[in-house]
Amino acid sequence: MNILITGGAGFIGSNLIRFLLDKDKSYNIINLDSLTYSGNLESLRDLEASSNYTFVKGDIDDKALVSSILKEHSIDGIMHLAAESHVDRSILGPEEFVRTNIHGTFNLLECVREVWGEGSDKIFLNVSTDEVYGSLGAEGKFTELSSYAPNSPYSASKASADHMVRAYHHTFGINTLITHCSNNYGPYQFPEKLIPVIILNALEGRTLPIYGDGKNVRDWIYVDDHSSALEAVFTKGKAGEVYNIGADEEMENIEIVKLICSILDELKPAASPYSELIEFVKDRPGHDKRYAIDSSKIHKELGWSPDRNFEDALRDTVEWYLRSVDWCDRVRSGEYRSYYADNYGKR
Ligand SMILES: NC(=O)c1ccc[n+]([C@@H]2O[C@H](COP(=O)([O-])OP(=O)(O)OC[C@H]3O[C@@H](n4cnc5c(N)ncnc54)[C@H](O)[C@@H]3O)[C@@H](O)[C@H]2O)c1
Repeated sequence: MNILITGGAGFIGSNLIRFLLDKDKSYNIINLDSLTYSGNLESLRDLEASSNYTFVKGDIDDKALVSSILKEHSIDGIMHLAAESHVDRSILGPEEFVRTNIHGTFNLLECVREVWGEGSDKIFLNVSTDEVYGSLGAEGKFTELSSYAPNSPYSASKASADHMVRAYHHTFGINTLITHCSNNYGPYQFPEKLIPVIILNALEGRTLPIYGDGKNVRDWIYVDDHSSALEAVFTKGKAGEVYNIGADEEMENIEIVKLICSILDELKPAASPYSELIEFVKDRPGHDKRYAIDSSKIHKELGWSPDRNFEDALRDTVEWYLRSVDWCDRVRSGEYRSYYADNYGKR
């Protein structure tokens, strides 16, 4: 099966490619990625020599390129992950989110319609987020029937893409699937998201910045569990359907930060406990209070369930970052270094 993965040099994409190639030697993966600040081929170095893996540098918004990939590689299905993915960046500069997340997705759909044709049985899987549903109060969870209520330019751009994907199914008969996943963590996550920022700041003796009162709740999933869910949806999902993906691991941000500090106190003790570096900072504008995913549909209909529990997988993640300081330094060089210095943690 020839699968086009977009955004495969990013955090989830690189883990997904590794997962799929380990799982099934009959997958042939083409990775299309424009290598923005968050895309890094070093995350895939161990796969470079694989005969069933090909990297193509390019933009999902490039019609000629995408069409030629679909034809030349006889693509049977697309797992679409390429995106601008960071909420804070979408607040500082939403335009690139509109271009990549909305127009880029539209371009992929148009290429599919032209090359595969209307009514084709090939699959277009749009990897989306629980953030499209907005914010929850203290109770309840997002189901596939929850209404869309995106609050950030990032989630609004992802929601727009979902709507376009849905429309291409209903109007043009494209075999689409949409997944809404909760917050991922694991190896190769770009050090601008909560967990890697906290680990690296702690190791560098910087402050550990936490938005607001730290009581915002996110539902966490280990990246390999997201990959296994995406494979289940891609191979067994029903065309036109939406599947929520989560691992029932709700945590307040402050709880996670304290947990990371205690793991680091054990693995790499410093002169004083890492939790002394915690600093509450001005809240993110429009910060959603709580996300929680009801993933009973994918459990029941596709027989998927996550393998990892939060504490064990978080420890593995911290250990990976301790082993991978060189990777972190290299991906933080260049454009990101100034963004990081301006926005994340003082010495
Ligand atoms: N990280 C999470 O917790 C999470 C949760 C749910 C859904 N998602 C979704 O999963 C997908 C991947 O997220 P991630 O955390 O791996 O993001 P990431 O930022 O780590 O990776 C995004 C990748 O897309 C590439 N890219 C960006 N613009 C592109 C363009 N125009 N053309 C081609 N490639 C481009 C980047 O180079 C990068 O490799 C995104 O669609 C995101 O919305 C992420």
